[in-house]
Amino acid sequence: MPEAYERHLVPVFFQPFAVDLAARAAALRPRTILELAAGTGALTSALLTAVPTASVVATDLNEAMVTAGSAREPRAEWRQADAQELPFEDGGFDLVVCQFGVMFFPDRPAAYAEVRRVLAPQGRFLFNSWGPLASHGFGAAFQTALERSMPEGAPPFLKAVPHGYSDPAVVTADLTAAGLTLDTAEEVTLEGVAESAASVATGFLTGTPVSAAVEAREDAQALRAAVTQRMTDQLGSGPVKAPMTATVYTAHQ
Ligand SMILES: C[S@@+](CC[C@H](N)C(=O)[O-])C[C@H]1O[C@@H](n2cnc3c(N)ncnc32)[C@H](O)[C@@H]1O
Repeated sequence: MPEAYERHLVPVFFQPFAVDLAARAAALRPRTILELAAGTGALTSALLTAVPTASVVATDLNEAMVTAGSAREPRAEWRQADAQELPFEDGGFDLVVCQFGVMFFPDRPAAYAEVRRVLAPQGRFLFNSWGPLASHGFGAAFQTALERSMPEGAPPFLKAVPHGYSDPAVVTADLTAAGLTLDTAEEVTLEGVAESAASVATGFLTGTPVSAAVEAREDAQALRAAVTQRMTDQLGSGPVKAPMTATVYTAHQ
């Protein structure tokens, strides 16, 4: 999964927002940065470029992501870690960052309480979360193609997880429950550019948990082809562009 994620999804979806978050991180002038749910390291590399004097500890729950990330970005220190139970001392980081990871934490107040614990007194928590699925041109097109190709019931993963934590009021309540104070919540729309709709379909079909539901079927190959064709019909052949909306949050103790 990390290979497909890195090849098809990172350049289109995650790289533009990594540049955005890294610039915001640099403005805070941190010396010590902890990254949560770092995946294959798209934001990690952007951070090390934007804040070259900072030390960066990059973590992820998934050991395969940590292996892929440490190979891709060896300048960071990589550790396997659950965001809800961080293996770090109190108060050790000027900045905790997380790009499109909080939606995956089963207990977000618990994770935010851990962020609060490991932040230095003047530290900041900087993270982003996708907007509703309809505000992501590629995700919405993929889900439509998937639902038409699986009329008996398509996996709700995209709506429920990556795009299921899009209400700033809910995020703010979770931060407050953990003893953090929201500073800013800014909606940001960036453009994703992909080599083809087929490449993005392959990324969703093989680089996300949707793959498990597709691979479990006897007609997996035909299903993948149908979804890819429907997505190409919607977005066109050749290089494709689409808007992608997220909210960027900052909070402090
Ligand atoms: C959509 S990816 C984002 C990865 C990376 N931040 C990026 O921008 O490419 C979500 C990541 O969250 C990680 N994750 C899920 N649950 C987690 C948890 N409880 N603690 C830490 N990481 C977690 C996954 O392993 C995955 O790498």
